[in-house]
Amino acid sequence: MSNSKRLFQRARKVIPSGINSPVRYYDPYPFFVKKADGSSLWDEDGKRYLDFCNGYGALMLGHRRREVISSAQSQLKKGTLYCAPTELEVELSELISGNYPSMRKVRLVNTGSEATMTAIRLARGFTKRKKIVKFEGCYHGAHDYVLVKAGSGAAHNGISVSEGGLEEVSQNTLVVQYNNAGELAALLEREKDVAAVIIEPVLANMGLVPPGKEFLRDVRKITQENGNLLIFDEVVTGFRMSPGGAQGYFSIMPDITTLGKALGNGFVIAAVGGRADVMDMLSPEGKVYQASTYAGNPLSVSAAISSVRTMNRLKGKIYPVLERGCRKMAKAIGDMATDMGIPHQINSISSMFQIFFTGEPVVDYSTAKAADQAKFKAMFGALLKEGVFVAPSQFETAFLSYAHTDVEIGRAIDAYGMALRVVKG
Ligand SMILES: Cc1ncc(COP(=O)(O)O)c(C=O)c1O
Repeated sequence: MSNSKRLFQRARKVIPSGINSPVRYYDPYPFFVKKADGSSLWDEDGKRYLDFCNGYGALMLGHRRREVISSAQSQLKKGTLYCAPTELEVELSELISGNYPSMRKVRLVNTGSEATMTAIRLARGFTKRKKIVKFEGCYHGAHDYVLVKAGSGAAHNGISVSEGGLEEVSQNTLVVQYNNAGELAALLEREKDVAAVIIEPVLANMGLVPPGKEFLRDVRKITQENGNLLIFDEVVTGFRMSPGGAQGYFSIMPDITTLGKALGNGFVIAAVGGRADVMDMLSPEGKVYQASTYAGNPLSVSAAISSVRTMNRLKGKIYPVLERGCRKMAKAIGDMATDMGIPHQINSISSMFQIFFTGEPVVDYSTAKAADQAKFKAMFGALLKEGVFVAPSQFETAFLSYAHTDVEIGRAIDAYGMALRVVKG
């Protein structure tokens, strides 16, 4: 019996479903990880995988990036939690504000879910309005405000509204189609009690769905016209699409932004920031409450400072190299699927891509849902055999990291070729 199988049997006795986040499960059991380095993961049976899951986008610089690890190591000698302010927190917030001009003030938190929960509460406190609007298929974390028609594991597991969530909460979350500015405009025209519109500027939790040409600009305009705050959830896109995230990439200023994942490059940290007048609503000066024991802990903050500094220092290389690698992968995979006569779509932007087994363009939740998930599952299994790890769901995205070499990208393309032959049958 493999070590992963044995560990999974042990895990199931003490961990619900044997895993600590739903998308990590797949049939018949997931591989258990022993270690990671650079572009790769090694499982408990000694097999190596090229990692294109990349911490669901967090590991922009790859596993164990030298500068990030050495910052954390030097911080370890000075303590890991003070629960009193540090210069490090000021420095990181200044760095974030410098990269994201819309984030005049920043609070550091631990997870993306915490960041979006705070962003929404802030928007309600600031506008004194009750409702929020989200887009079908966007995932903003595992809390009740946003767990309505969400993407990621919720879509993968067919959960539209989570059991245990209160209807009184979910009925205040209105949902419209991604890439449909007309539907948003009509809703906001009708509905005057909307505090904020929250959006993933690039939808990375329903597979990958980039915004149409004018979509984000239209969303900005419509929210401004209707007095709604615009929350860009950049937990995935922050630092990944550009040093200034998707808002830098597309030149759009939201009112509030959430960051996570690549901010810490593998360390637990997230942030919420925005207009000073909005952020100043936070307690103790303001009346909107947010708090956390581990917020701004010096270990994560020192790692994040190092991540941001490294991404800023190498930005002239990192972003073009990743974009080129991603375009190469997406094109090669698409060409192979076309040559094999497999109906498919490949969506890609920046360092993110996904393949959908469908003949129709994927532009929103419904068109993503129309893709053949059985084929995706077959491809995922075959990729694993070939030593390539992508997220085990159609409703996730493949991410490149700066640690992937050209040779490894070539190997991954070959693995996709083998996997597509399995899909073809
Ligand atoms: C866009 C987006 N927002 C928020 C979250 C929640 O972040 P976390 O899992 O750190 O709570 C995620 C997680 O995948 C995400 O993709």
